[in-house]
Amino acid sequence: MTALMVDVRGLEVSFGGTRVLHDVSLALEKGSTIGVVGESGSGKSTLAKALVGVVPAASGAVTVGGIDVRRLGRDRRAAYDYRRRVQMIPQDPYSSLSPRRTVGQTLAEAVDPRRADVRRFSDRIAHWLERVGLSADMMTRYPHEFSGGQRQRIAIARSLLLDPSFVIADEITSALDVSVQAQILDLLAEIKAEVGVTMMFISHNLAVVQRVSDYVAVMYRGEVVESGTADEIYGDPRHWYTRRLLDADPGAPGFRLDA
Ligand SMILES: Nc1ncnc2c1ncn2[C@@H]1O[C@H](COP(=O)(O)OP(=O)(O)O)[C@@H](O)[C@H]1O
Ligand SMILES: [Mg+2]
Repeated sequence: MTALMVDVRGLEVSFGGTRVLHDVSLALEKGSTIGVVGESGSGKSTLAKALVGVVPAASGAVTVGGIDVRRLGRDRRAAYDYRRRVQMIPQDPYSSLSPRRTVGQTLAEAVDPRRADVRRFSDRIAHWLERVGLSADMMTRYPHEFSGGQRQRIAIARSLLLDPSFVIADEITSALDVSVQAQILDLLAEIKAEVGVTMMFISHNLAVVQRVSDYVAVMYRGEVVESGTADEIYGDPRHWYTRRLLDADPGAPGFRLDA
């Protein structure tokens, strides 16, 4: 058994003839967290989508949890299983939580899309609502009754109640107030330490990434220009672009959560 959760080699992704990822290689050990940082348009979300398998690779190898992601299109069962093992927490819970479903219904649907039965899964739903700092009785409420931070907690609960092996969080704190961002990051770090899930944490904000990551990959124009341990990247940046990011954010290193 490999100790790698993610193994990406020479990944190229194109949209309509335009290449947006160039020769991306990345390896991530099971149980660790990698932060992916870079300015808007640098290809972070495209990398995430290639890992989840919703964006095809033009070339290169993408293996997650020992599964060759490019083969999922040919195997429906494997694809179904993969979607449960590899979860993406979306940036905007407004768009990902149905306004017409109670929180309980949304979470029950995540457990079993064919039989979204809240009563059947109520113990599990209650457990996860409490685990993310909400309360069990909130399962009867609708998304509009919650704040942005609470909705993001619900999205986290939905991603984690399937006990996934790999979770990608793509800019999940970008729309939140600074103090709420810190709470969400601390919650994720705590849950990660508890359940040992492997994570990819994407943000344009260096301080956010630093707060939760063991490893960091810096993306610029569709390439990973530098990667290493968080200490290496923040303490001894080699690439000019990494230095520029650090200079542009005088709060880093030091957990200043604005941007
Ligand atoms: N579905 C798409 N079709 C065409 N171009 C896209 C699509 N998705 C992303 N892009 C382009 O790919 C590049 C990388 O985008 P993205 O991965 O969203 O960057 P980031 O998440 O770092 O902001 C950008 O130039 C963006 O315009
Ligand atoms: Mg993005």
